[in-house]
Amino acid sequence: MPVEMEQFMCRSDNFGVLVHDPKSGQTAIIDAPEEAPILAAIERTGWTPTMILTTHHHVDHVEANLALKERFKLRIVGPEAEKAKIPGIDETVEQGSVIHLGDERIDVIATPGHTAGHVSYHLPASKVAFTADTLFALGCGRLFECEPPVMYDSLKKLAALPAETVVYCGHEYTLSNARFALTVDPTNSALKERAAKIEALRADGKPTLPTTIGEELSTNPFLRWHDPAIRRHLGMEKASDAEVFAEIRKRKDNF
Ligand SMILES: [Fe+2]
Repeated sequence: MPVEMEQFMCRSDNFGVLVHDPKSGQTAIIDAPEEAPILAAIERTGWTPTMILTTHHHVDHVEANLALKERFKLRIVGPEAEKAKIPGIDETVEQGSVIHLGDERIDVIATPGHTAGHVSYHLPASKVAFTADTLFALGCGRLFECEPPVMYDSLKKLAALPAETVVYCGHEYTLSNARFALTVDPTNSALKERAAKIEALRADGKPTLPTTIGEELSTNPFLRWHDPAIRRHLGMEKASDAEVFAEIRKRKDNF
């Protein structure tokens, strides 16, 4: 039985997600950006959280950790490399760690770049991934603690997940990502079509997530370092994939 998901907005542009395993009744919270919307989601679903899966140490991902731990006596899991900065952490994980939500297997993928210890969580049986501030819809996280080749390697790992994998991200940045993506990949018709849909969704105040790995592979310039049209557009036909990625990231920083 696949897991069930409840996605909701919090803070100004963060997403919160509850993941529920119907068989065991266990529920995980993916990051804890803000207490009140998480409590509202718990109330709405009737799911009692048993753990928080932390992706990285930024305050807009861990702020409600201690309050939720106090209230639900839940266990907090997060990256070993950032344990000193994650309030209430009980258990640390790294590349290749496996955790369970009932019988549902959760694989930990180290995805440094945005922060040095950032991890993503992949549920292969349910075909779901939580990539927080590493991979966004049509974008990727800013490089606060790492150089571009580190993020490139992390994105390459996520790009290799099955195309049908449903991806939940940390922020609703898709509209500005779409506008930027069109500046580096202006002839991509799948991207143009997607950008139009995103404009309409955001005009209605609706979320643009989740996405899928397949959709990102065909439209997200941060996963399209190999694409001949993008390389031509950037004048980087002979550059390495990591160099193309670094150039696109630099342009986005200045967009
Ligand atoms: Fe972050």
